[in-house]
Amino acid sequence: MRRPFIAGNWKMNTNVTEAIELIKDMKEGLNLLSTVDRVLCPPFVSLYCAGELVRGTDIELGAQNMYFKEKGAYTGEISPIMLKGLCKYVILGHSERRQRFLETDVMINEKMKAALAAGLLPILCMGESLEENEAGKTNEKLSHQVQGGLKDIAANKAIVIAYEPIWAIGTGKAATGTQAAATIKYIRETVGKMWGSEVADSVRILYGGSVTAANIAEFIKELQIDGALVGGASLKAREFIDIVKQSAAIKQGK
Ligand code: PGA
Repeated sequence: MRRPFIAGNWKMNTNVTEAIELIKDMKEGLNLLSTVDRVLCPPFVSLYCAGELVRGTDIELGAQNMYFKEKGAYTGEISPIMLKGLCKYVILGHSERRQRFLETDVMINEKMKAALAAGLLPILCMGESLEENEAGKTNEKLSHQVQGGLKDIAANKAIVIAYEPIWAIGTGKAATGTQAAATIKYIRETVGKMWGSEVADSVRILYGGSVTAANIAEFIKELQIDGALVGGASLKAREFIDIVKQSAAIKQGK
């Protein structure tokens, strides 16, 4: 059985004061739901105080990005060794990074290797655009992203993958549970071709894209879908707790 996993990607929202408030508002509610891995991904500048606030709970933190070099003349970048100790996870290859900051599969693969070498666990994001979807090229795109992202990386059950169709992110137009499950099954098979089916069956694969408390059940009830990467709805304490609560209940068969 794969342990359910719900991560909140806060993106470029909240200053430090707001981040502290948000964590205080969700901490107790989240802390009770210990059958699910709960991961908060605030902006870099709030990771340190977020760590202080979640100390003593099993709520984990993640960064939203990272550069692949350890240190040096890379003005404005944050390295894996800076993140080590501040968070357990790091989101890599989010479509906003791929599209707006021109990150390629090659760069994302460098980041994956650097994260793992530093002891961070990547949440590798992938997904097709609307045009690719409409042209029937979803699987082709995803197999490139799996092969590119995991190239030359040893089989690893602890990494997490998030399938996030670009057309569903921040649009209010989520995929259906059935669609997402079918694509995630394909991603798992592709991971299986590289890493063997035993490892692929253990890797958690999430759905992301307009997940809310109103639609989480549709995704989480699918056996292929192990959780969600939640953007907008993770900025609302009550809704995010509700998403985790429903996930815990559904995966426990309640
Ligand atoms: P959304 O974002 O839930 O706001 O659509 C998801 C994501 O980009 O991770």
